[in-house]
Amino acid sequence: MAETATHTGTQAAVRAQDLHREYGRGTAAVRALRGVSVELAPGTFTAVMGPSGSGKTTLLHCLAGMDRPTRGSVRWGDTEVSRLPERRLAELRRGRVGFVFQAFNLMPAMTVEQNVELPGRLAGERPGRDRVRDALARVGLAGRERSRPGQLSGGQQQRVAVARALVSRPEVLFADEPTGALDRATGREILDLLRAGVDQEGQTCVMVTHDPVAAAYADRVLLLADGLLVDELVRPTAAQVGERLSRLDG
Ligand SMILES: Nc1ncnc2c1ncn2[C@@H]1O[C@H](COP(=O)(O)OP(=O)(O)OP(=O)(O)O)[C@@H](O)[C@H]1O
Ligand SMILES: [Mg+2]
Repeated sequence: MAETATHTGTQAAVRAQDLHREYGRGTAAVRALRGVSVELAPGTFTAVMGPSGSGKTTLLHCLAGMDRPTRGSVRWGDTEVSRLPERRLAELRRGRVGFVFQAFNLMPAMTVEQNVELPGRLAGERPGRDRVRDALARVGLAGRERSRPGQLSGGQQQRVAVARALVSRPEVLFADEPTGALDRATGREILDLLRAGVDQEGQTCVMVTHDPVAAAYADRVLLLADGLLVDELVRPTAAQVGERLSRLDG
């Protein structure tokens, strides 16, 4: 009887319950999320899809502790994060969460290596050079440590951003349209990388995408519409995703 559900190893990496997020007040208020509950099992890859403005980025930011829900809760393992004081949240986020953006968000004047080190430095940590090099090797950029972002292709720049997100060895990697600025073939390299992280390292990954082919890399696809979770597909093909999306749009 001493055993509890939290010690069975099946605990969610991230669990959100009844998330609401409103921007603004009164008649100008936008209800970006209107009661979304999701659980992300450790070592799984989830895609989030839905029409523009449906709340995908808002959901990702709330799950990643980068935005606070107006109502509802977000837990990382045992920790309720949505109401932690900002300092504590920032500290926890650095250790547990990585984030990749559509627009790479690299510092152009810094080298690849410095970009990957930057979050640790901002946190006042002494970033281990080996860790940085490991992260770059993992994304196939060994030897490019001294390059500047402007000397790399778009796909390579996004790989630097993935390395930057992974260098702290986060439990969960969030990616908001990570292939949105890339062509199909280059996007596929990034998707292979995310998939390999899940399969080989047990990484938990959540990715927003508009592309059914990208979504088909995930184990599960969540569909948002108008701030609500409206559907879920398990291990779908790209064709199944496309078909379901066109029903949402139509
Ligand atoms: N900071 C903000 N202030 C006011 N409204 C916001 C803010 N951020 C998002 N919204 C609104 O919330 C709704 C959901 O936005 P969100 O960015 O989550 O959509 P999305 O599904 O990511 O869309 P897209 O596919 O275009 O990126 C939209 O109506 C948007 O205008
Ligand atoms: Mg968005």
